[in-house]
Amino acid sequence: MGKKGIIFDLDGVIVDTAGFHYLAWKNLANELGFDFTEEQNESFKGVSRVRSLELLLEIGGRTATQAEKDVWLKKKNEEYLSYIDDMTKDDILPGVKKVLDYLVDNKVPIALGSASKNAKPILEHVGLLPIFEVIVDGTNVKKAKPDPEVFLIGASQLGIVNEDTIVFEDSIAGIQAANIAGMTSVGIGDPGVLNEAQHNFHDFTEISTQFLDNLLNIT
Ligand code: BG6
Ligand code: MG
Repeated sequence: MGKKGIIFDLDGVIVDTAGFHYLAWKNLANELGFDFTEEQNESFKGVSRVRSLELLLEIGGRTATQAEKDVWLKKKNEEYLSYIDDMTKDDILPGVKKVLDYLVDNKVPIALGSASKNAKPILEHVGLLPIFEVIVDGTNVKKAKPDPEVFLIGASQLGIVNEDTIVFEDSIAGIQAANIAGMTSVGIGDPGVLNEAQHNFHDFTEISTQFLDNLLNIT
């Protein structure tokens, strides 16, 4: 067995930004005259900004010109950025820091694998930028999750084979991407929603060092 490595999704896994994305899309939907529910939002998680707008317009039964789409994409992102502007290390989700510290102490290679183009500023805000050996984000990938591109690049940059790579994800699309890549998928969130994951936890406070040791073959 080779060396193991871990790839973390960002939004909804490390930081509580999934709600900010939802709020910004919901406000846009309301402005366009329709509603957008939390349940509908599940399929938006892990999905790029451009694709998310297309999905939103489908929900509202709307068509739009590229110029309109560009205005709405900008508006959504500006609202989202206004929320993340106030983020500090207190916005790291419960239990995450403890797991990250344990991995660093045990010299486990860790990467970020996110669809977001805002990943680096968010990591900077919460003080986690230096701990990631590799960062693959929305500025590096062409194909959105469930395409495994983001995780394949992450594993290859870490120098870890897919079978030895473990992915932590809160989105259905991300779990599918990890599974397609032949990686170990760990779902963070509702196990009913993330039922394709190989392991499930509601949040990082449920993840024990024993679970990590078993996963990583730390003896
Ligand atoms: C993902 C989020 O991490 O990033 C999605 O789960 C979001 O909700 C996507 O649409 C793109 O993010 P951004 O920050 O580039 O708009
Ligand atoms: Mg996510």
